[in-house]
Amino acid sequence: MSTGNAIDVRGLTKRFGTRTVVDNVDLSVATGEIVGFLGPNGSGKTTTIRLICGLLTADAGEGTVLGLDVRQQSAEIKRQVGYMTQRFSFYEDLTITENLTFVARLYGLKPVAETVAKTLDGLGLTSRRDQLAGTLSGGWKQRLALAACIMHQPKLLLLDEPTAGVDPKARREFWDEIHRLAGDGLTVLVSTHYMDEAERCHRIGYIAYGRMLATGTVDEVVRGSGLITYVVHGALTPAQLRELAAADGVEQVAPFGTTLHVVGTDKAKLEAALAPLTRDKGLRVEPDETSLEDVFIKFMTSAQDRAA
Ligand SMILES: Nc1ncnc2c1ncn2[C@@H]1O[C@H](COP(=O)(O)OP(=O)(O)OP(=O)(O)O)[C@@H](O)[C@H]1O
Ligand SMILES: [Mg+2]
Repeated sequence: MSTGNAIDVRGLTKRFGTRTVVDNVDLSVATGEIVGFLGPNGSGKTTTIRLICGLLTADAGEGTVLGLDVRQQSAEIKRQVGYMTQRFSFYEDLTITENLTFVARLYGLKPVAETVAKTLDGLGLTSRRDQLAGTLSGGWKQRLALAACIMHQPKLLLLDEPTAGVDPKARREFWDEIHRLAGDGLTVLVSTHYMDEAERCHRIGYIAYGRMLATGTVDEVVRGSGLITYVVHGALTPAQLRELAAADGVEQVAPFGTTLHVVGTDKAKLEAALAPLTRDKGLRVEPDETSLEDVFIKFMTSAQDRAA
């Protein structure tokens, strides 16, 4: 049964030994959509991605990837998906051109030289074509990795932390490229730990301990968390800070530059906790928008509590 979505899976479950690392995960991604996949280390992102691209077989669950049965047609899925693994995996002692030529041959792409040249050109790699991959900076390495996984013209890109350790400018360029590709109809599922990248996705999913805790647009996920945020401007005394952090209704206290973010779910309790500070002439207390980071910290904390 095909729904027209690039990814449509329900109840995906994967166990390693007795541990369930992907637990009943539902995920739908529309064609041309960019979906961000977030969650703490070890939460099951890479495993989920591998289940979707057919490298691992699920213990339970069903659905389709590019209209193909995720459990029965993994060989066909693999051919139509571009998968960028979490770790850079190229021959460091080969040039960019040589690496891409190798990949083109693996996929049986013809004519090889033309395909490689077109890919180099498409991703702005031509000027570096003869440079050894091992000597490239992080940003160029990511670009090479992206080139290698789109060369066979997949319909779905699965990117596993593609920009880890890459500087902000290179990350922005990488994301511009992702949006260009999605504009051409490519569907993208991308795992990341970066909040700014989550905000560049059409939708996000948050996973912890193998369970998908929230999906939706960034706004939907923030609203769905029910968190309320206040910002305190000015310098608190250590005693004020201690008292605030310990107050009933205060779930998170986090400094951001010269301000303090105070987060909770119960507005009345939060305002009661902040009341002594609003009376302090040296401080200014204002409501503010809850950040995605605040929401994720809450998810992580409550998932930890449940696991314990
Ligand atoms: N082949 C395997 N055999 C046994 N356990 C595994 C295997 N692969 C992953 N795991 C475990 O499954 C859990 C989920 O791992 P996974 O790599 O999917 O997490 P992740 O969300 O990608 O983490 P990170 O953000 O660190 O990349 C981890 O506890 C990991 O140790
Ligand atoms: Mg991972």
